[in-house]
Amino acid sequence: MSSKVFSAAVVGLDAELVEAEADAGGGQFGQIFLVGLPDKAVTEAKERVRSAIKNSNFRFPSVSVTVNLAPAYLPKHGPSFDLPIAISILRISGFIAEKINLDDYIFTGELALNGDLRPMTGALPIALCAKRLGKKVLFIPEENAAEAKLAKDIKVIPVKNLYQLVLHLRGEIEIPEFPYQDPNLINVPIEYDMSHVKGQEHVKRAMEIAAAGGHNLLMFGPPGSGKTLLAKTFPSILPDLAFAEALEVTKIYSVSGKLKEKNGLIKSRPFRAPHHTASSAALVGGGINPMPGEISLAHRGVLFSDEFAEFPRPVLEALRQPLEDGVITVSRAAGHLEFPAKFILLASMNPCPCGYYGDRARPCTCSMMQIQNYRKKISGPIIDRIDMHLEVPRVDFKKLDEELPGEGSAVIKKRVQQAREIQAERFKNEKIFTNAEMSSEKTRKCCALNEEAKKLISNAIDTLNLSARSYFRLLKLARTIADLDGEQQISTAHLAEALQYREKA
Ligand SMILES: Nc1ncnc2c1ncn2[C@@H]1O[C@H](COP(=O)(O)OP(=O)(O)O)[C@@H](O)[C@H]1O
Ligand SMILES: [Mg+2]
Repeated sequence: MSSKVFSAAVVGLDAELVEAEADAGGGQFGQIFLVGLPDKAVTEAKERVRSAIKNSNFRFPSVSVTVNLAPAYLPKHGPSFDLPIAISILRISGFIAEKINLDDYIFTGELALNGDLRPMTGALPIALCAKRLGKKVLFIPEENAAEAKLAKDIKVIPVKNLYQLVLHLRGEIEIPEFPYQDPNLINVPIEYDMSHVKGQEHVKRAMEIAAAGGHNLLMFGPPGSGKTLLAKTFPSILPDLAFAEALEVTKIYSVSGKLKEKNGLIKSRPFRAPHHTASSAALVGGGINPMPGEISLAHRGVLFSDEFAEFPRPVLEALRQPLEDGVITVSRAAGHLEFPAKFILLASMNPCPCGYYGDRARPCTCSMMQIQNYRKKISGPIIDRIDMHLEVPRVDFKKLDEELPGEGSAVIKKRVQQAREIQAERFKNEKIFTNAEMSSEKTRKCCALNEEAKKLISNAIDTLNLSARSYFRLLKLARTIADLDGEQQISTAHLAEALQYREKA
């Protein structure tokens, strides 16, 4: 006597079909043999499943049971195979009759010893997998039902416990399916508003451009000049997430076990601020069962690297691939995995080790050598991938205190949002959302210059010795500035402003 039910295993940010087969053998009563590359958490399923079955008033087959999780090559992590294993065992012991067809169902969830279902990670990728495979119903712990239902066209049945589920499968009770509700993507208000920052108008302007076009921004300035404060206000001007983006972000948080939202969907752009002592794996991702790192948790949002020069060199170098491609490749036992990592890098650093190089009020105590070494910590290839370089001088905010408060974030965000709408139209047939993501090809097409602007840029190339990469960055930046202006044509003024943000030697 054997049985088979379907489940799914999360691989990276997606899931793949897994079959849980059970076969009653000739061994001892109550014994379970588990095969099919299970990790420790899966192996412990034996004990949980045995107790859950017993405590749900069902009986075990009177012989031993072999459970195979197939395909064997697919690594299976975590406890969410408890439920399919339990169902396939109950099938061979006759508690779920053979005539009840389970082929169109996916079962997933961890069992508590008393038979209750526990919340799990990866519900959204599993639901999307079930939908892709054309399965009709997903049985999932009730806490994860809202998240799973984001996949839309699949019936999601929220399960409380094993007993309830078996009665439902036998048609003795009916668990109502979880209803789909259109998620409301309006952002929650953010604590730090730009109007809290006195002065620094040029920094706010640069942040507006960065938010509008998805450009990376590096702030230089002495301690106390407000770099950290400015960074904290950045989320308040970021555009709302589109539903497709919100799903991408939610998947990342779901597999990382970091999804806290009640209705399952992440609605605001992530803002991650890893400390410079964070390990390379924590930052870029990895591990035996590879998990997304900070740069992927910042996907479609912001990675704020405060004290950028303090990050260890290898960690900074690991940012090169994601800054270029928007993905990170992590290796695992069987091949490689890719996690998305499209984020705005917002970095801040002091201009020198003591912090006061170039400050008006306080002398710098560093030698030229020390200053050079400090700057060299950020390598050329990283600097080259940062579109905007900005000095943040100290302001006398006692004086500024008397001034009227500046623009509030809501007003700025509106302009950012409008510039994003222009970009959405521009990229409607492509997989990108922002000017910063344009290929060189696309940049050439979308950033045609008039004669005057061409003259300005060829002068700049000669006098500033611009590399090809900086040239394209400049054009993309000018594109965003023009979009904020609502202008189709990039003017010399747009280009001139973009030039201001290039790297200062
Ligand atoms: N322009 C400003 N407007 C209002 N408060 C400011 C401004 N600049 C700095 N501050 C305040 O000064 C303190 C130091 O700022 P901080 O952002 O930590 O500086 P930094 O990161 O550049 O060292 C904070 O308490 C911050 O709120
Ligand atoms: Mg700071």
